[in-house]
Amino acid sequence: MASAAVDLVIFGASGDLARRKILPALGALVTREGTKLRVIGAGRSHSTNEQFRELVKEASGNSPLAATAEWVTLDYADPESFAPINALITGTPVVIFYLATPPETFSPILVAIANSAMATKGDPSRRVVLEKPLGHDLPSAQKLNAQLATAFDEMQVYRIDHYLAKDTVQNVLAFRFSNSLFEPVWNRNLVETIQITVAEEEGIRHRAGYYDQTGAVRDIFQNHVLQLLALVTMEPPTTFDPDYVRRAKRAALRAMSPLDVTSAVRGQYEGYLDEPGVAPESRRETYAAARVSIENWRWDGVPIFVRTGKALRRRVTEVVIKLRDAPLLRIGGRRQRGIPTLIVIRVQPDEGITLRMGAKRPGPRFELVPAGMRLDYARLTKAPLPDAYENVLSEVLAGGHSAFPGAEEIELQWEIVDPLIKAWESEGSSAETNREQHKKKGQHELPFSIMCERTTSSSGPCLCPSCCPCRSSRARPCSGKARSAGRQR
Ligand code: BG6
Repeated sequence: MASAAVDLVIFGASGDLARRKILPALGALVTREGTKLRVIGAGRSHSTNEQFRELVKEASGNSPLAATAEWVTLDYADPESFAPINALITGTPVVIFYLATPPETFSPILVAIANSAMATKGDPSRRVVLEKPLGHDLPSAQKLNAQLATAFDEMQVYRIDHYLAKDTVQNVLAFRFSNSLFEPVWNRNLVETIQITVAEEEGIRHRAGYYDQTGAVRDIFQNHVLQLLALVTMEPPTTFDPDYVRRAKRAALRAMSPLDVTSAVRGQYEGYLDEPGVAPESRRETYAAARVSIENWRWDGVPIFVRTGKALRRRVTEVVIKLRDAPLLRIGGRRQRGIPTLIVIRVQPDEGITLRMGAKRPGPRFELVPAGMRLDYARLTKAPLPDAYENVLSEVLAGGHSAFPGAEEIELQWEIVDPLIKAWESEGSSAETNREQHKKKGQHELPFSIMCERTTSSSGPCLCPSCCPCRSSRARPCSGKARSAGRQR
């Protein structure tokens, strides 16, 4: 007999994601909100209830949550093995199926859920949550969406892009549309470029099994970067309700042209090939940068540059909107130095928004210096900023959809990145040559191999890892030779 108001069935509950993200967030959330929730862990490991309870206690730090947890050992290919889950959840008011498993298990799990009638299509009390990767290209994403649509209504499906659940990402909507100061300049008339960086300091850790099949474009561009870009560039939604926000994001994504290999750069950090589990000759990109174009009235002609990488100098996720320069006025016949006007949306760390602009240097002379006005996001609350997974779970429990991309967005995102992935995956075997060439020329200060023949398109910033905005102010960017070399080809 069910005793909880909510059963959260976590497939893959003994895995890394559950331990590091889901269970800690759940521990904090149920304590804060007092939700009567039971965790049912399910997976291939031959665990016992006691062992699983120990795991939940350790990962969530929440003893009452751990005390009621249950474990079910599954053979994903055998629908019969799901019967104990069905028995446990019968009668529970709300049941959430959370697929925190490798993507090849999605299909058998969805079949088992649908066939055993553990969830009925259209019943909002039965919800399914999926972790990425949601496909590895457009056709596989379409297939997954089609399978989901046979068993669930779209409103029962929650596709996780944890970036959307970050407060600072949601704040992009508030920043753009809750005040009238910035929106009038938010277009090709006044914006010169947009740059989005998702830089990580850590390497792939022990995730070679996943990452060496995936790479930076599938891991970060296809989802986090494109969602962020859609929020930054979309038209104002009719309302802030999820349906309208999704609609506005879809329109923005539809206007983005597919990524082009001639204006993209990929690299691999030195030492990647020595990571346990990485194929000896792997050419998987751990760094990727590209130019994106948006072909619509608002953004036509505005260059947008996106970058992501692992093992970079420091962790930073930010959006930088550069406004067109003001005219430079001479003083006493001398040209003033130009101060770029930037809107910097810092997603993490040091969350906030900075408006960088020119100011008069204090003193007798009229001289301009760079200055800034800053919104320090953490100061808006006394509590620590919640982890994105707490927001994800809180939203699923509430049955809301504002932190989740819809099916069509996922497909549009694949349409944008697929041509680049295909081009890179089918490129010849010149990687070694390029690696050596770049090393010999000493063009890059970071220990990276550039695995393509260019570091930028014909205009715009150098896209090599050394020139990533994640560099600390003391680090010198690359010599720029790579950039001109790229142009000559
Ligand atoms: C995940 C990627 O989606 O996002 C990881 O799979 C990456 O490779 C992580 O490290 C980054 O998330 P965050 O919240 O730490 O920026």
